[in-house]
Amino acid sequence: MTKRLAFVLFAAAFAACNNTETQKEQTIEKAVDKHTQSNADVVDVKHLSLDVKVDFDAKQIAGSATWSIENPKHADTLKLDTYDLTIDSVKVDGSLVQHSKGEFKKYLGTVLNIPIEDNSEKVTVYYKTGEGATALQWMEPQQTLSKKHPFLYTQSEAIYARSWIPSPDGPGIRFSYDARVQVPNDLIALMSATNPQQKNDSGIYRFEMEIPVPAYLMALGVGDVEFRAIDERTGVYADPALIDKAHNEFAEVGQMVHTAEELYGAYRWGRYDILVLPSGFPLGGMENPRLTFATPTIISGDRSLVNLIAHELAHSWSGNLVTNHTWNDFWLNEGFTVYFERRLTEKMTDKSYADMLWELGYQDLEYTVNEMQEEDNMKDSHLKIDLAGREPDEGLTDIAYEKGALFLKLIENTVGREKMDKFLNSYFDEHAFQTITTEEFIAYLQEHLIKGDEALAQKINIDAWVYGPGIPENATRADMERFEKVNAEREKFLSGTAPAELNTKGWTTHEWLHFLRKMPKPLDDTKMTALDKEYDFTHSNNSEIADLWYIMAVATKYKPAYASMEGFLVKVGRRKFLTPLYSEMMETGQTETAKSIYEKARSNYHPLAQGTLDALILNKQ
Ligand code: BES
Ligand code: ZN
Repeated sequence: MTKRLAFVLFAAAFAACNNTETQKEQTIEKAVDKHTQSNADVVDVKHLSLDVKVDFDAKQIAGSATWSIENPKHADTLKLDTYDLTIDSVKVDGSLVQHSKGEFKKYLGTVLNIPIEDNSEKVTVYYKTGEGATALQWMEPQQTLSKKHPFLYTQSEAIYARSWIPSPDGPGIRFSYDARVQVPNDLIALMSATNPQQKNDSGIYRFEMEIPVPAYLMALGVGDVEFRAIDERTGVYADPALIDKAHNEFAEVGQMVHTAEELYGAYRWGRYDILVLPSGFPLGGMENPRLTFATPTIISGDRSLVNLIAHELAHSWSGNLVTNHTWNDFWLNEGFTVYFERRLTEKMTDKSYADMLWELGYQDLEYTVNEMQEEDNMKDSHLKIDLAGREPDEGLTDIAYEKGALFLKLIENTVGREKMDKFLNSYFDEHAFQTITTEEFIAYLQEHLIKGDEALAQKINIDAWVYGPGIPENATRADMERFEKVNAEREKFLSGTAPAELNTKGWTTHEWLHFLRKMPKPLDDTKMTALDKEYDFTHSNNSEIADLWYIMAVATKYKPAYASMEGFLVKVGRRKFLTPLYSEMMETGQTETAKSIYEKARSNYHPLAQGTLDALILNKQ
């Protein structure tokens, strides 16, 4: 039994009998996770042995999942989450048993009931994945860079692990795992575990993750990728056609891990590698333990987008080590990570650079809060939200990320950096390999930082941040030094100065982003043309800049950018880029353009991105 689980059981028992002799920290009752139907809070799930075969022709993963369990509470059933899985049979300690399935529930899937005895130890489920496996994206060879081999990867967060492994799929349940994965023998398999660095002839790969992880961190990638070491503990896997560029882009990642350790304590996971996925990946990155999954769109050639890696690396502390108890506490994963990411970036570069990231984040947050206001949805602008009955992905907003990070920034500014860092170090240490609820975090903050200091408590105003709407008044804004210079150049340009005359020397990607973001929309055609002539934004290799430019182009109907924009949309599946760009087309009456591009691009997008865009562009629910 993992430590955390023991704690939940104890807390539950405590709640029932109201035993006042329990320790102080156990007086906070952990909320029930509404996004799992598993009963792994009663039956103790310790270890998973996965044995599967990946079939690219059938687009199916098939095999068995063996769970090592203990049943000290004498439960008669083990309940596992599944989603669109075919269950062939189930054995308990080697003997076939009669399993049953519950009704399919929207988002949650189907609970699998397995009869067990008090002394049952091993439960083996023989299964296959279905066509509706939300975690799986099967890429055709032509959707990869080298176009020779197919590619498969999983995305399990938040509740998709159950669509490829029958599992107790909640962030509060941790287990260690080992796996045997069979793939076509010209491909390599990689997991969130110890990984091979080379292909073998058999196509059979074995994995070990001895550190307990929640199901949302289960990950598998299969394709033709090559490994290149960065230093002794870090490295990158990428398409052979991209490996040089990827290796160069991530050259600082070895140092980044050291710097993160200087900030918040030892990196506890062994290796830190990166797997660069095909460009259809719907996310920027995913913090799979030991193996961050990353979009190739951060490979810009100038290392200016590696803060995304800083973010995924930071999750090795916030999220993977100290985990949100339920998805309602998601801000504890992401807000902490954004804060950590910016501190790390600051230490790797300087304050003025990190300040630009803080400011861009603030702008995103303002935008999101305004949108929520318009939609009369201010409840979702609280840090602590209620996702019951909803897809947890709905919590994936700038509130969790930017409001969460800003809250920590405010605490830092109020108590000072030294105290803040001491606090965070002990926070990570004392909650390592456990979950934390928002309420527990607040109690911990009260106990270790606020310590009854009323004036301090008022300055911070926890309630306004956690249980209140929007951006609280006491939010701090970053130093605008570098962006003020950008503002001045933008003003000059808007009042007639030719682009060639602007002083943009030494600008980084983030200065350019601020320059473009605050342009009037639409900008007139002459100005678009002048900018493009000088800076060639239409052909920018920097995905962030290109995306912004295409949004401006759509708003202005600046046609010279459309061919490149189409190329971008057909290649890139990152939701963050797609939704705003297609929305701009829809909102400016360019429905036909949107439809015709989407028709060509759709097959390259992740099923979840397809869902969002089908609704937006094709009006399909
Ligand atoms: N863990 C998230 C991705 C995620 C969250 C997937 C919730 C599914 C549900 C990851 O760490 C993340 O935040 N990715 C960001 C990048 C980051 C730099 C903000 C992304 O993909 O945009
Ligand atoms: Zn994150």
